[in-house]
Amino acid sequence: MSANVGPSGHQPTATTPQRDAVQDSAFLRACRREPVPHTPVWFMRQAGRSLPEYRKVREGIPMLESCMRPELVTEITLQPVRRHNVDAAIYFSDIVVPLKAIGIALDIKPGVGPVVENPIRTRADLAQLRDLTPEDVGYVTEAIGLLTAELGETPLIGFAGAPFTLASYLVEGGPSRTYENAKAMMYGDPQLWADLLDRLAEITSAFLKVQIEAGASAVQLFDSWAGALAPADYRRSVMPASAKVFEAVAPYGVPRIHFGVGTGELLGLMGEAGADVVGVDWRVPLDEAARRVGPGKALQGNLDPTVLFASREAVETKAREVLDAAAGLEGHIFNLGHGVMPSTNPDALTHLVEYVHTRSAR
Ligand code: CP3
Repeated sequence: MSANVGPSGHQPTATTPQRDAVQDSAFLRACRREPVPHTPVWFMRQAGRSLPEYRKVREGIPMLESCMRPELVTEITLQPVRRHNVDAAIYFSDIVVPLKAIGIALDIKPGVGPVVENPIRTRADLAQLRDLTPEDVGYVTEAIGLLTAELGETPLIGFAGAPFTLASYLVEGGPSRTYENAKAMMYGDPQLWADLLDRLAEITSAFLKVQIEAGASAVQLFDSWAGALAPADYRRSVMPASAKVFEAVAPYGVPRIHFGVGTGELLGLMGEAGADVVGVDWRVPLDEAARRVGPGKALQGNLDPTVLFASREAVETKAREVLDAAAGLEGHIFNLGHGVMPSTNPDALTHLVEYVHTRSAR
């Protein structure tokens, strides 16, 4: 049975031999902690401003609008796969797309990030968060159908924002360094906070299900800003909602990746939340991360994205350190410790993929 056929029985558009080849890819094998011919590699934010071909097709089209055009999403998602020979594609979208789809007034401001018109601060504000249905995001289903046909044997990763990271934007009204309003709700009105995160868990689960049913063969939950939390607060006030998301998609059998930045103290809990693969930023070496996460999970990471601004020799040295630290792991997917920075030279990324493939060939 293919792991890509979900509980609803909906069949993705790809043919059976193609689905088998995807399942046998280095990326999915590493997620399942099976032997691999080489360490698979992809990059968070591999599509985007580091690529001149991205800047060209995005010209004059606002970010959120570009996420709603299936042909454009397909082209942008494929660009880094063509250029860098990465082992997986990541669906081009943004974590706030499902919130926009249910009618939240928000925009993505260039150079700033998501900005929410009416921040959620009271119980009455929760009414803004209705359930997400597949019809709300028909363009996602359509784009993934186009993509899986084009991608051939390359797996497609679907993704969503985790409840805490989404809540940080919704409560603050935009990007924040301190999360003072979100944390004030978490500490001061724990029941409202729990209800908010539970609503977001429902929306995120529905959004991931749409992507898996359309043909995504792995999913990543981005809890980018969870590193702002103490472990006890994460466990009590955030982990239940993220665990609910992982449980909701468990029946599909696709690998579930869980990532955040500055989460060294949370790695064990992020695995416990229900992930199959734990993403690690550059602050914790992978052998130490494996001790913190414990057995039964693959790890993803963790080259510092700023290393790509250094010389080719320095990139190779630092990439080798990551591979060496990962040598004893049950499964390793090479990635950066956070997203590709927009001013990165794309040739450095292409070279890094080649280096990781060659150096790790077994
Ligand atoms: O290739 C890929 O990795 C897929 C693309 C992707 C985007 N957003 C596209 C995007 C992914 C995985 C995201 C997730 C996302 N969005 C996260 C979690 C990942 C992370 O980086 O921690 C977060 C926190 C957001 C919220 C967000 N959206 C921010 C902070 C920004 C940057 C604002 C800016 O202009 O600097 C965005 C906008 C955004 N999302 C861009 C892209 C390519 C830039 C907009 C543009 O190209 O005009």
